[in-house]
Amino acid sequence: MSDTIHGSIYDYPKYYELLFGSDWKAEYDFLRECFERYAKCEVSRVFEPACGTGRLLIKLAQGGYNVGGNDLNPKAVDYCNARLQRHGYPASVTVGDMADFRLAKKVHASFNTINSFRHLDSEQAAEAHLQCMANALTKGGLYILGIHLLPTQGERMETESWTARRGNLQVNSRMWSKELDTRKRNEKLGMIMDVYTPTSHMQIVDEMNYRTYTAKQFEKLLATCPQFEVAALHDFCYDMDVHVEITPRLEDVVYVLRKK
Ligand SMILES: C[S@@+](CC[C@H](N)C(=O)[O-])C[C@H]1O[C@@H](n2cnc3c(N)ncnc32)[C@H](O)[C@@H]1O
Repeated sequence: MSDTIHGSIYDYPKYYELLFGSDWKAEYDFLRECFERYAKCEVSRVFEPACGTGRLLIKLAQGGYNVGGNDLNPKAVDYCNARLQRHGYPASVTVGDMADFRLAKKVHASFNTINSFRHLDSEQAAEAHLQCMANALTKGGLYILGIHLLPTQGERMETESWTARRGNLQVNSRMWSKELDTRKRNEKLGMIMDVYTPTSHMQIVDEMNYRTYTAKQFEKLLATCPQFEVAALHDFCYDMDVHVEITPRLEDVVYVLRKK
């Protein structure tokens, strides 16, 4: 039996988690090392905007941090809170917009590692997001933001695929760049997720729009939020010893922003 569904992969947290949930260790270690090295305060409270299923939040909670987050997708938020509670932590994640939120208590560090920021579809929303993040942080606290920039020279990565299996459940996924409009600053991405059990096959066909940023455009955006300084630049290898420089060829970058 085979089914095709046109919808958002974010509405299927169980499959999202199976695909991406095992990818946490390098980011987790990197985040903790950033907290140690770059924050000018002791980090105990952390927040993840657009946290999805909370694959990193659960690990940080287990590592002793007080965690919180938000996400637009109620199914992801329910999944995340249920898992936090199952492990004895509060259901500390809310449904909310990362460009329009306020925290009751400021946090010492926050992170947004895999391009979720590019879901914000306008400069206004991106600026509002940075302002919310600055307001959410204590002085000396960090916002660790990982994005793919649009290189203005050289090749760029246009396709990615993932595969994962648990018991009888197999999930394969492919994401590719369908259309790039540099004038409208939009990249249309296609994503297909195939979910197999021994007796069924379901295909989820998704399409996402990501705002594009060249290094210069990102720099201009950052300048709108002078509360942040750039403490360090790394890349998606998550190696503390590897620092990157902004060049026209640079694609994946992790901005370690610190609140002044
Ligand atoms: C690529 S997933 C990343 C999830 C999680 N941060 C992770 O690392 O696994 C992107 C997430 O961004 C969320 N999202 C998109 N736009 C958002 C917005 N304006 N505010 C909050 N969450 C948003 C989606 O619902 C989705 O869960």
